[in-house]
Amino acid sequence: MASDYRVYSDLAGWWPLISPPEEYTGEAAQLADLFRAAEIPVREVLDLGSGGGGVAVHLKDRLAMTLVDLSDEMLDVSRRLNPECEHVRGDMRTIRLGRTFDAVLVHDAIDYMTTEDDLRQVIETVFVHCRPGGLAVFVPDHVADTFRPFTGGGGGSDASGRQASFTEWTWDPDPADDWIQAEYEFVLRSADATVQVVQETHRLGAFSRATWLRLLGDAGFGTVTAEAAPAGVRGSLFVARRGGEPGQPAQGPTPPMRSME
Ligand SMILES: C[S@@+](CC[C@H](N)C(=O)[O-])C[C@H]1O[C@@H](n2cnc3c(N)ncnc32)[C@H](O)[C@@H]1O
Repeated sequence: MASDYRVYSDLAGWWPLISPPEEYTGEAAQLADLFRAAEIPVREVLDLGSGGGGVAVHLKDRLAMTLVDLSDEMLDVSRRLNPECEHVRGDMRTIRLGRTFDAVLVHDAIDYMTTEDDLRQVIETVFVHCRPGGLAVFVPDHVADTFRPFTGGGGGSDASGRQASFTEWTWDPDPADDWIQAEYEFVLRSADATVQVVQETHRLGAFSRATWLRLLGDAGFGTVTAEAAPAGVRGSLFVARRGGEPGQPAQGPTPPMRSME
């Protein structure tokens, strides 16, 4: 369970150094372009699994962002970065806010869905929060069809003298199932120079493209496109449109969309 991972609980205060908001600049710009190119005006956006608010911080000037996360600690990190945004604690599989949005985004937090049932629940959550004619955007880091073991890392520092770095190694223990494994090592250096090294293993979803398209169709989205990830974005992109906008067919043809390749 994601809520058991230390990086999103007792170590969440290190998140802005582990994954600095600047790293989301390019991706957020691509998402902003996508929202701008939508057939409906996109103003209100729900971000499920918003984490430290690293995507939201780049979108909030032009969009009213509602941020949902399972972790109180991550919500606190995001509140410091995005005090003007509404923050709600909730599970993306089950939360029901009782209102709809022009667009619903599930960025890399979708990786924490590791079974088809989890993924189906999130897609249903997105559908019920998407207004007729609205957009649903999913950005999984891993899709089974293209998964390759990957080694990477990053980190940053802050004005108080804290430094964090991490390495990540992803691999697939069993290609027959819907998840892969990421091995992380975090090196966290406090301002007083004390250092802690934390190793953590995360289980991350890697569903096939066919599974994505089937579940999005089953949920009732009228049109679904799978796009190649834009340059600089390591994930994949699934964009679905909820039909039923006044004057629009409930299940129409794929609308023209700007290519993101
Ligand atoms: C990689 S972080 C997201 C980072 C985010 N894209 C950002 O801009 O900072 C993953 C987040 O997913 C959240 N998460 C995992 N499972 C969740 C669930 N079932 N419902 C809501 N949030 C969840 C975690 O608490 C964590 O904050």
